[in-house]
Amino acid sequence: MRNSVNFPHFVNMVDDLLDSDQVQSMTRLNHHGKVTCFDHSLFVAYLSFRAARFLKLDYRAAARGGLLHDLYLYNNRDKSAHPGWQCFDHPVAAWRNARKLTDLSRKEEDIILSHMWPLARTRPHSKEAALVDFVDTLCATLELCRIYRPIRLRANLPAALAPAA
Ligand SMILES: [Fe+2]
Ligand SMILES: [Fe+2]
Repeated sequence: MRNSVNFPHFVNMVDDLLDSDQVQSMTRLNHHGKVTCFDHSLFVAYLSFRAARFLKLDYRAAARGGLLHDLYLYNNRDKSAHPGWQCFDHPVAAWRNARKLTDLSRKEEDIILSHMWPLARTRPHSKEAALVDFVDTLCATLELCRIYRPIRLRANLPAALAPAA
């Protein structure tokens, strides 16, 4: 995805988050198969940003909420790391971690908490949250079917913000 459309603009919008230890630590957590939580979240954030711009929605919230939507920060295969079903637990864990990391807008909170709808019960209350929910499902499908490896997107980040592969 070299020469990705508006990628520098996207990076400017999330550079403080990309530079944080919490977001960088997602590179150490596998999410879908061998796709890391970081690469998946970057993929969701960038596609959500582009789609939200195209649809004239709040693309800042889409980018930032998309990047933080899976910031749950535990090994999802470790049953002792969370009390219940991962599908329900991880959006709440991500929301708690994201709140500690940055001031979240209401839309960003909505995006994180509702991104597993309709599997989880919290439904989107904004167009941006519904969009990121859809994009997350699309990205997960592309990753699980090995149609796209989002690590390619990481290669476009400025060196100062790119975690080690
Ligand atoms: Fe998720
Ligand atoms: Fe996700």
